[in-house]
Amino acid sequence: MSGLIFLPTSDLRTTITFYQSKLGMDLWLDQGDCAVLQHGNLLLGFCERSGDPFEGIITLFYETQEEVDETYQALEDLAEGPPKENEAYRIYHFFARDPEGRQLEFQTFLHDLRPYLSGRDLLETRRSIRKFKDESVAEELIWQVIELCRWAPSSRNSQGVTYTMIRERDAIDFLAGVRDSSSAPIAAAPMAVAVSADPEISGRPEEDACIAAYHLALAARLSGLGTCWIGGMNRDEVKKRLGLPLDHYLATVTPLGYPAERPEVKPRKPAESYVRFLD
Ligand SMILES: Cc1cc2nc3c(=O)[nH]c(=O)nc-3n(C[C@H](O)[C@H](O)[C@H](O)COP(=O)(O)O)c2cc1C
Repeated sequence: MSGLIFLPTSDLRTTITFYQSKLGMDLWLDQGDCAVLQHGNLLLGFCERSGDPFEGIITLFYETQEEVDETYQALEDLAEGPPKENEAYRIYHFFARDPEGRQLEFQTFLHDLRPYLSGRDLLETRRSIRKFKDESVAEELIWQVIELCRWAPSSRNSQGVTYTMIRERDAIDFLAGVRDSSSAPIAAAPMAVAVSADPEISGRPEEDACIAAYHLALAARLSGLGTCWIGGMNRDEVKKRLGLPLDHYLATVTPLGYPAERPEVKPRKPAESYVRFLD
């Protein structure tokens, strides 16, 4: 769950220009007569409306309609009506009031969004995704993910990692078949990514490639995409098929696409059970 505050403005375009040029904020979302600007973790919306410029709407947003419905069930007594679709803004939402009368809105966007997750949300909500929408990944989004991958650490900052982006259907089907049901999720995605490291460049190709692959998983999640680490496979067979040199270390091949499932959260051990302090 994330949120933003919408405020009214009598001149949306001038307001956007002010916050962009004077405060260095990014235009996160343009909805026509509403727009949301971003500065770090601040999402600030403006809508062309009359009224007190400080009288805003506190909007919490969720990833799915089901989460909006669940929130509505929990807050039904405060809600002004059940959730419904708003075609103009491509959202699904309902309104409520806090005890002092401030307007609250609970919604999900029915379209893709630029990254907005907090660090904590990102680390807590990444799941292995094995079902994907039948939709190719927008080129811009692929580059957004790749751009974030530049910031993965590597031994001596050697940066010897290669991300092989696989969109060729034959290659995807081949990869999906390398380890029966374990690799099958690759077939469900519009593309796959192989993460490997060159030992000529990287002093620690195994560590570098694995870290880079996990960085990819987080960057993808941040950009609204799903991944799944596919483990054991005949690495030489896969490298040959992908045209990668046999001496490169291949960490994993992951499917990449828009998630079509919200997998159950697998239980984790309590933190105390896996930590030791040597004081
Ligand atoms: C080294 C490694 C190998 C994995 N291999 C596979 C695999 O071959 N197929 C698969 O579907 N998931 C695979 N996974 C995903 C795990 O099953 C998954 O991370 C784990 O069940 C926890 O679920 P979560 O990622 O949704 O939190 C692998 C994960 C890791 C870290």
